[in-house]
Amino acid sequence: MDRRKEMRTDASAALQLSITESLRNLYLGILAYIFGDQEMSSVKPEILLNRMLSTKSAISTTSICTDKNQWARDGIGEKVFTTVGQGQCGTVYALRGTTMVIKLPNSPQKSDQLFNDFQIHSAVKNAFTSLPATMRTSYNINIPEVKMWVDPVASHFWSEHASMFPDTENSVDVPNYGLVTERIFPLPLPVRSAIVDTFCPKEIKKQKDKFLKMPENKDCLVRLYLGRYRKDSPMTPENVRLRNFPLHIDEMQYLKLDVEMFAKMIAQALAVLHWKVGVDANDIEFVLGSTPEISPAPSATEIQNAGKDTSAAYYVSDFKHRTVSMWLLDFNLCAKFSKDPSGLKKIVDGFWWNDPYYPRPSDKLWDVFVEHYLGISYEFNKTTMPKAFIDEVVEVGKKRAAGGLFA
Ligand SMILES: Nc1ncnc2c1ncn2[C@@H]1O[C@H](COP(=O)(O)OP(=O)(O)OP(=O)(O)O)[C@@H](O)[C@H]1O
Ligand SMILES: [Mg+2]
Repeated sequence: MDRRKEMRTDASAALQLSITESLRNLYLGILAYIFGDQEMSSVKPEILLNRMLSTKSAISTTSICTDKNQWARDGIGEKVFTTVGQGQCGTVYALRGTTMVIKLPNSPQKSDQLFNDFQIHSAVKNAFTSLPATMRTSYNINIPEVKMWVDPVASHFWSEHASMFPDTENSVDVPNYGLVTERIFPLPLPVRSAIVDTFCPKEIKKQKDKFLKMPENKDCLVRLYLGRYRKDSPMTPENVRLRNFPLHIDEMQYLKLDVEMFAKMIAQALAVLHWKVGVDANDIEFVLGSTPEISPAPSATEIQNAGKDTSAAYYVSDFKHRTVSMWLLDFNLCAKFSKDPSGLKKIVDGFWWNDPYYPRPSDKLWDVFVEHYLGISYEFNKTTMPKAFIDEVVEVGKKRAAGGLFA
């Protein structure tokens, strides 16, 4: 067997039920593409593994962007907000050198939706933080911290931050309403580079360096589309962007990622949203993103036991080493639902609105998803409603298939 295949086979045999394990496998898939055949055969697998895993699964990244973050964190250079995403409701800005992002409404009419985002996001975060220990340790997903809500007269916030926003024709006006949350950091350069090598059209590969330097290709979060195949949405050189890069089920399988684990993580999150938080999960996103190694504050005992030359090490934050994990975001269109037929319709609609993320009822992965969804739902709701939800999703799926839509 050639080295590439062997690497991936070895790795897939070692798949376990943790995100770290699955992502370790992603790195292996990626390594197979970063190194050519010749290098793969000359570099021993244990050395490659060591390179990827020696910093506790953290990936070292060398990009100007992380350098700037590191400098800003260290107080060198200017603190500025840069756009990292934009949707129908808001524009998301990151404050370089910090773990903070702020979502501002695209227009005054969107500020109510943004406030709904704040309220639901806070409820979701509280619910996930207070899950039983077993659910927090297996198949759990990250939710960005909610740091604060600001309004246009919040002088404590705007006097310090207003001047840090870009002032271009299409920037959002400040002061404004704003939702401040924790930043999901983009996937580091080695991963972005490997995505290009593995999946992008040859026209992009030819100008890879230029492509990777474009701002919209730096803020790379990967959307996990367990319910969509690449052939149904082909990539063209014109439409490919690494910001919110869609990774389809067939592409995950090609990389030998643990798709069953992803299905269970998403099923669990959906069950918690439905039956613990009580929201319809409309228009939410599931992405892979990274986290820099930010040191937690030292404990009182650690401070007492340290000396003047050892204490500073507790405050070192490292933006250059990142770990990768699954995140849930974007709650502005979520709504509460009632435990009656109209509520059932609402959560079924929420499912189909967001169907790229969920396995299709006609796929093998569906059974894994359903079993885990029902198991977790039962912990919070012992009625027949979770099962009725699944049955209705399947029924609607059949109708959509008959009407020519995916199911
Ligand atoms: N906490 C975060 N950290 C990093 N990037 C983020 C964060 N929140 C949002 N983004 C990026 O900004 C984009 C837009 O954010 P969001 O989806 O919340 O806005 P929206 O206006 O509600 O979008 P949509 O129209 O898709 O519902 C996201 O797709 C994501 O790429
Ligand atoms: Mg949204």
